[in-house]
Amino acid sequence: MHLHKYEKIWMAFGITSLILFLTIIGITAFGFHHHPATGMDIIDPNKVHQTAPFDHPGVNKIDRDHYEVVLIAKTFGYEPTKLQVPVGKKIVFKLTSTDVVHSFSIINTNVNMMIVPGRINTKEYTFKKPGNYLILCNEYCGAGHQYMHTSIEVVKGE
Ligand code: CUA
Repeated sequence: MHLHKYEKIWMAFGITSLILFLTIIGITAFGFHHHPATGMDIIDPNKVHQTAPFDHPGVNKIDRDHYEVVLIAKTFGYEPTKLQVPVGKKIVFKLTSTDVVHSFSIINTNVNMMIVPGRINTKEYTFKKPGNYLILCNEYCGAGHQYMHTSIEVVKGE
């Protein structure tokens, strides 16, 4: 088989690039201990109501600019049902499920998280406008999936 000089050059270039990239990935992965994302806390899905912070679900003020919202997702709703947070403050949502995979999607925001049983799923968000925000489960979770929704009231002040 005859290969043109330019084809040989490009083949050499391609193979060299591949080796170079794999070497860089290898060195960074092993040298700097790179690994897939971790930090997702685990929880026993049968003991959610006995495990902190899910033993007291609801809104907790952490400090002046920082709130935590602890929620439990289950077929077919969220606990607690009433939520009120201030506008313009950092809100950290912490959720887990007691049964199957649900989701927690706040309409008109970029909060759209999967709620996996056995995991503590977190997401940070700061509401820019006050109002009542609809929250939906968009992960098919059973016969009552279409009824699984709640809302969060975002208020001025504090
Ligand atoms: Cu929960 Cu769909």
